[in-house]
Amino acid sequence: MANTEEPQQPEQIDPSRRSFLKISSNAIAGFATLILAIPFLDALISPSLRIKIGEFVKVGPVSVLSDGDPQKVFFDERAKDAYIEETERRDVWAIRNGSKDVTVFSPICPHLGCRYNWDPASEHFACPCHGSVWSKDGKILRGPTPRPLDTLPHKIEGDELYVKWERFKLGVPKKIVI
Ligand code: FES
Repeated sequence: MANTEEPQQPEQIDPSRRSFLKISSNAIAGFATLILAIPFLDALISPSLRIKIGEFVKVGPVSVLSDGDPQKVFFDERAKDAYIEETERRDVWAIRNGSKDVTVFSPICPHLGCRYNWDPASEHFACPCHGSVWSKDGKILRGPTPRPLDTLPHKIEGDELYVKWERFKLGVPKKIVI
């Protein structure tokens, strides 16, 4: 039996529709590439443009610290490494000396990294791990600590205390930032 149907012609696409489809698919591909590239672009951004460990962080008002008594104060520091952001809880020892002067000590023992305490009865700082003792101003009274307590950079603006968190090499006589 003879085939009476006419051969089918390939569907003709309007040239303006074809160029619209081409532009649309290129735009979608470009957008998808951009989304995938964001983490890599972020990693390339200058570190100075990121929030990172090692910047001054507001701790709180100086006026609430009692004059001459070491007090443990806490603050949260936000750190961003590439595209992972996390909050670190920090603690430091702060001693207000008069109305405008504050000493800030790292809470980490310079010997091997334990956390030392303030003993109000003896008015000394003492480390429970190996028995090191320091005076209120951080000077060594008893070893094995190889150096005085480590002070941290800080500043006072108005009544607010700002502290820059740093870590130091343990077990050496010199204070070396790591
Ligand atoms: S870690 Fe503090 S005395 Fe050893």
